[in-house]
Amino acid sequence: MLIAGNWKMNLKYEDIIKLKNIISDLEVDRRVEIAIFPQFPLLYSAIEKLSDYKIEVGAQACSSVLKGAFTGDVSVEIISDIGCKYCIVGHSERREYHHETNQFVKNASNLLLSKNIIPIVCVGESLEVKNKRETNQFIKSQIRECIPENITSNIVVAYEPIWAIGTGKIPEYEEISSVHKIIMNELSHIKNLKVIYGGSVNKENCSKIFELNEVHGALIGGASLKFKDFLAIYESAVKQII
Ligand code: 13P
Repeated sequence: MLIAGNWKMNLKYEDIIKLKNIISDLEVDRRVEIAIFPQFPLLYSAIEKLSDYKIEVGAQACSSVLKGAFTGDVSVEIISDIGCKYCIVGHSERREYHHETNQFVKNASNLLLSKNIIPIVCVGESLEVKNKRETNQFIKSQIRECIPENITSNIVVAYEPIWAIGTGKIPEYEEISSVHKIIMNELSHIKNLKVIYGGSVNKENCSKIFELNEVHGALIGGASLKFKDFLAIYESAVKQII
């Protein structure tokens, strides 16, 4: 399982130190991986301070090209050089505010894999698509358009329904299972595929989500900013695999 904390545009250097102090007493169970995704300028410090505690660090986004005149963008080469294991690609906030398309996600995923970084590819339907009962078809198309055809291992897909992000609402548990199954069927050729769920995961609802066989972890926004809650979610994942 993978418990990933997407800090988005929140928290500071001092919070990395706070997290380090909190986790120094924690026995990390290797079967459940913890990863955090701070803002770019904090990545190096996060890796330096947290690697002894078996916390992985990843980037929240990357460019879809390797280098050049792209002011403000960040290359996968740098993300790889500093030692990130993961990079989130195609988060709905990037799709909405930075116009990242499915083709962008595919190009970026290819580049990430070429630099040995595991892409966490985000997919998920809007409320409009859900209300039209077109979720399954929408997710299938997103997967086909976002995941490079040649990939055979080392990818994580995060199912994040847009309407569930930051709203306190989550799909019915059967709906989560059924969308994860669709993703797993589409990508049955990929070894070690992880399909994780994101959208209003908290310490109260996480255990029911982790009970679902098709859920291999969570991508957590708001609740990852409160470290006690984040670690409670991690502990719930550990209980699930024991
Ligand atoms: P919330 O957990 O705040 O709903 O955010 C989910 C998310 O967008 C994680 O990437």
